[in-house]
Amino acid sequence: MLRYRDMAILKIICICGARPNFMKIAPIVDALAGRGDVDTLLVHTGQHYDERMSGLFFEDLGLRKPDVDLEVGSGTHARQTAEIMKRFEPVCVEYAPDWVVVVGDVNSTIACALVAVKLGVRVAHVEAGLRSFDRGMPEEINRIVTDSIADKLFASEPSGVENLRREGVEEGRIHFVGNVMIDSLLRCRSRADQSTIISKLELQENNYALVTLHRPSNVDNPEVFVPILDALETISRDRRVIFPIHPRSRKMMGDLNLASRVEQMAGLRLLEPLGYLDFLKLMSNAAVVLTDSGGIQEETTILGVPCITLRRNTERPITVSEGTNRLAGVLCEDILEAYHEAMNDTSNRKEAPLLWDGRAAERIVASLTDSN
Ligand code: UD1
Repeated sequence: MLRYRDMAILKIICICGARPNFMKIAPIVDALAGRGDVDTLLVHTGQHYDERMSGLFFEDLGLRKPDVDLEVGSGTHARQTAEIMKRFEPVCVEYAPDWVVVVGDVNSTIACALVAVKLGVRVAHVEAGLRSFDRGMPEEINRIVTDSIADKLFASEPSGVENLRREGVEEGRIHFVGNVMIDSLLRCRSRADQSTIISKLELQENNYALVTLHRPSNVDNPEVFVPILDALETISRDRRVIFPIHPRSRKMMGDLNLASRVEQMAGLRLLEPLGYLDFLKLMSNAAVVLTDSGGIQEETTILGVPCITLRRNTERPITVSEGTNRLAGVLCEDILEAYHEAMNDTSNRKEAPLLWDGRAAERIVASLTDSN
């Protein structure tokens, strides 16, 4: 039976934990803030904790400080996931929400979803249904498990809807709402334009390559990491290569004795991880982006910037079929071939995918508040 308090005010916990979560949760928190009939608790798990992996993003995205920080920090997958669960459970019990909203596919996503469903709290998963069909990726496991237990599944692209249907999910749980990451991009674009990062780095607009790399499958194994660096070295003779480096990749470069080789590449510049606005500015004005990130494939599609994905698969196929993305794999010659193709491609900028229009968070909040 509903308690009186529950009928008057809808209580929602929003979860964020790792870098790619912040730009997804920010527009949702914002859309919820405008509603007098909703109370929101913002929980940061602390999966990412460095200023450069977390703090900067709150500032850049105008995301309010979390109400609760679980401060879990790094660890093996089991330890990190378990620690998030242990620390989130009492928060969830005490706040007694109507919904827990989780985004993306990181360990914080699966951990908090699992805690909530076991407490009988409804879970909404934002960015549901994406599948790389590669169970070697920790994120793929997180996606499959989270989708299988969540009550509302908010899909960002049609492939997500199709995958969920094929897995037998009832139609009533699936909602195609568009892409919240693009909500943040469209909102922050004019502020990102003010960033002075291009002149600070003495770059010429549209004449440099931007690189990000952090997948364990790419950076933990020298047989994969070295050929990628070979390709970057060749590209760096053609145009400057800017590489804001993820802590995992920085550490692996050291462990695999690759750091001095990279430092000797005259055309390649390693940077610390960047904030959202500086990175958006660099991405918008790059000649090409090379990445193994998921979100960057989507952002470059909206920006109309060629993207070369250093993976053999993508869980975001619309970025290839309708956007600017090319799947190159991780072999040096394949990366270089994709690079030359991208640089010689004169086709016009493509249309934005359906519902990547800056209003996904609004649709999500309407759906959450309607269903009560
Ligand atoms: C996580 C996500 C991945 C996401 C990525 C974005 C999972 C399974 N993976 O991977 O989907 O694309 O974040 O960055 O959730 N570290 C720091 N400072 C930090 C955070 C991490 O130095 O603020 C170090 C850790 O000590 C660890 C490494 O970076 O050695 C990896 O961090 P972790 O959160 O375990 O996974 P990511 O590789 O970042």
